[in-house]
Amino acid sequence: LFDRAELAPADPILGLTEAFNADTRPEKVNLGVGVYLGEDGKLPLMAAVRSAEERVTQQHKPKAYLGIDGMPAYRDAVRALIFGADSAALADGRIATVQTLGGTGALKVGADLLHQLSPEATVLISDPSWENHRALFTRAGFTVDAYRYYDAEAKGIDVDGMLEDLRAAAEGTVVVLHACCHNPTGYDLTGEQWDAVIDVLRERGLVPFLDMAYQGFGFGIAEDGAVVTKFIDSGLNFLLSTSYSKSFSLYGERIGSLSVVLGSAEEAKKVLSQLKIVVRTNYSNPPTEGAALVTTVLTDPELRQSWEDELGSMRERIKTLRQGLVDALAARGISDMGFIAEQLGMFSYSGLTKDQMIALRTEHGVYGLDSGRMCVAALNTGNLDYVADAIASVRGA
Ligand code: LMR
Repeated sequence: LFDRAELAPADPILGLTEAFNADTRPEKVNLGVGVYLGEDGKLPLMAAVRSAEERVTQQHKPKAYLGIDGMPAYRDAVRALIFGADSAALADGRIATVQTLGGTGALKVGADLLHQLSPEATVLISDPSWENHRALFTRAGFTVDAYRYYDAEAKGIDVDGMLEDLRAAAEGTVVVLHACCHNPTGYDLTGEQWDAVIDVLRERGLVPFLDMAYQGFGFGIAEDGAVVTKFIDSGLNFLLSTSYSKSFSLYGERIGSLSVVLGSAEEAKKVLSQLKIVVRTNYSNPPTEGAALVTTVLTDPELRQSWEDELGSMRERIKTLRQGLVDALAARGISDMGFIAEQLGMFSYSGLTKDQMIALRTEHGVYGLDSGRMCVAALNTGNLDYVADAIASVRGA
């Protein structure tokens, strides 16, 4: 049996972390995975999360099973965060929510639900998109195709191409959209462009699946979440995955959520019952720690403020790092990469070729994705010049 298993290629993102960890060069820099590191090059434990952890630990609670759909207080807290505490859709009971294993877990639970309801549907992802989108929806049984998104020449979004591709999609097609901080390009739709997209989704009877893994890294919690309000106001049914890996720096806790916004409370009840079967038959029920930490932070006004402030500093620091990289590259004669300062979120879609990215890795120990994506949130004043030197070297500047 097992001789049928072929050796699979390493994961395009997490496989790089494995290669990075095995690299013995002290000057190595990991700009592969989307992880925010502090000025000391280390993963931060946010102050609000630290306080929450102390409180949670002091309670010494026994480790009971959570319900299949997760911790009720957690679901309430994240639903208030995403949809607003006074959301009419929430009050109407039209939103089914489950706690998930990070954003990836939310996407997979959503994909499994969709495949059960509509196995013949095609899933459209942006071109380009997060590497795992295609793999995950393909594994869930879907045919995955792409809509135009990134315009490499204009360094922006090909909105007309995107709308044209969405208009050409068959009714019932699932459309995966990045709510903010598009991964990998860092280019987001404007409010008006979102309105145009929503119009086409409605006209064509498409099924939106919003992926929001970087709320707070673009302009702020409320600003980045505004697109969710647009979807609620549109009256469309949609899915929304969220992740608290990045915004709470809780990567290893695997904490996120999946919500499905529906037309009625009755529909939401039925959908929730199906989501619970998906969860139960995959991993039974989610873990407690991440949910307890996020809930404690979100429901304590002081901790919540501290969290939002610290997230704001992280966002501003990334902007400074972007500008620092642009300046450092300019100082090395590279003046055509100024766009790095305009992109949003953790990534820069650098425009470097696959060969250049491989050379960065092999010759300099600077790890980024073959697609040219680099995690600028892992830069610091100690490695920035080294990275700029490496880029200048592979660009032949
Ligand atoms: C990324 O894009 O690097 C992150 O979302 C981490 C991951 O799971 O791929």
